[in-house]
Amino acid sequence: MKTTREREIIDVAGRFPILAQQVYGKRLVYLDSAATSQKPDSVIDAISSYYREFNANVRRGVHALSYKSTEAYEATRAKVAAFIGAEDPDEIVFTRGTTESINLVAATFGNEVLSEGDEILLTTLEHHANIVPWQMAAKRTGARVIVAPLTSDGDVDLQFFSRLLSERTKIVAIAHISNALGTVNPVKKMTEVAKRAGAHVLIDGAQAVHHQKVDVQDIGCDFYAFSGHKMYGPTGIGVLYGRKELLEEMPPYQGGGDMIASVSFEKTHFAPPPQRFEAGTPNIEGVIGLNAAIDFINEIGFDAVTAHESSLMAEIEKVLRQHDNVSIIGNPKQRVGAISFTVRNAHPHDVGTVLDHEGIAVRAGHHCAQPLMRALDIPATVRASFGVYNSVDDIRALGAALAKVEELFG
Ligand code: ALA
Repeated sequence: MKTTREREIIDVAGRFPILAQQVYGKRLVYLDSAATSQKPDSVIDAISSYYREFNANVRRGVHALSYKSTEAYEATRAKVAAFIGAEDPDEIVFTRGTTESINLVAATFGNEVLSEGDEILLTTLEHHANIVPWQMAAKRTGARVIVAPLTSDGDVDLQFFSRLLSERTKIVAIAHISNALGTVNPVKKMTEVAKRAGAHVLIDGAQAVHHQKVDVQDIGCDFYAFSGHKMYGPTGIGVLYGRKELLEEMPPYQGGGDMIASVSFEKTHFAPPPQRFEAGTPNIEGVIGLNAAIDFINEIGFDAVTAHESSLMAEIEKVLRQHDNVSIIGNPKQRVGAISFTVRNAHPHDVGTVLDHEGIAVRAGHHCAQPLMRALDIPATVRASFGVYNSVDDIRALGAALAKVEELFG
């Protein structure tokens, strides 16, 4: 029996206009939310209202429209802070997305704290966005990247992780939830041991903030990065949370308008954070859309989100196990939002193409996690990932389509 709340949450699919369409004459079943989520009507409407009613640059104008856009922009900063449990809205920096948030920290904080012989500790699960910026920082500073391995179940080996920490470890950068396997890292515990060793901790929360309640103060991390577009908001907007005392010490990332206190040809004084890190006209429509996306999630509530999504995860695991030729990749202690699998005798891209022709959108490939694929000794996987709008019917449709895949490649 579904509770009323679970029924309500399933009904939110009707708020996503894009999901009403058919592809190849089949009902669209969107199982690629880890790549990007679909957007509810309220997010689309908020962006449209901004352009119809109060489009103006922020923090610059002395006119009514600019006051209104600035108010909406800064109100979103406060809303984001509350959404992730930050102490102060000034700890929220708007960026282009998770990738830019991590690059910002690597290029500013990284340059400040890293030197020859220091270590940056990552895990094998990381997305390229949480690998490459650190490799670049290591090259600039003479530090080196080291990597915590996984257990055979696809969890980070916590004992190994702890053993890799030393006085050389200056930065620990870890995914909250793996985009490829759905593995949930025990980030609070990992942060605690990393901090005990004297390291600073950045968490890539791109796959987490919309699936479960995140409280950055409870986790105890120094930085937390995420994107708007995976949490029902627009593309091109992201967030970097940074502890205030760290942001205050960090040099700017980019120079330009709006990040300064005063400029002369001799010397520029930078604005305090977060403005220091927001050079140029920001993505105002993105911020407005992000505001509506947070409202959308808050209206549903995380209790209902997690209840619904864990029932979807249980269903998808059950359905995949019914297929003899399908292997689920990893068996982590907790899996949220995404699951990867392979089909015997079929390349993941071919599986993805057959599923597409059945109306089912999945991602196939290395999921921007090539080191993880190498560690698993597979070239690629098929990944099904979901959001609040998915239903058990979607998972059953995937099961029926997989039967066709097996028939074709069996
Ligand atoms: N990081 C996104 C994904 O996992 C694009 O698909």
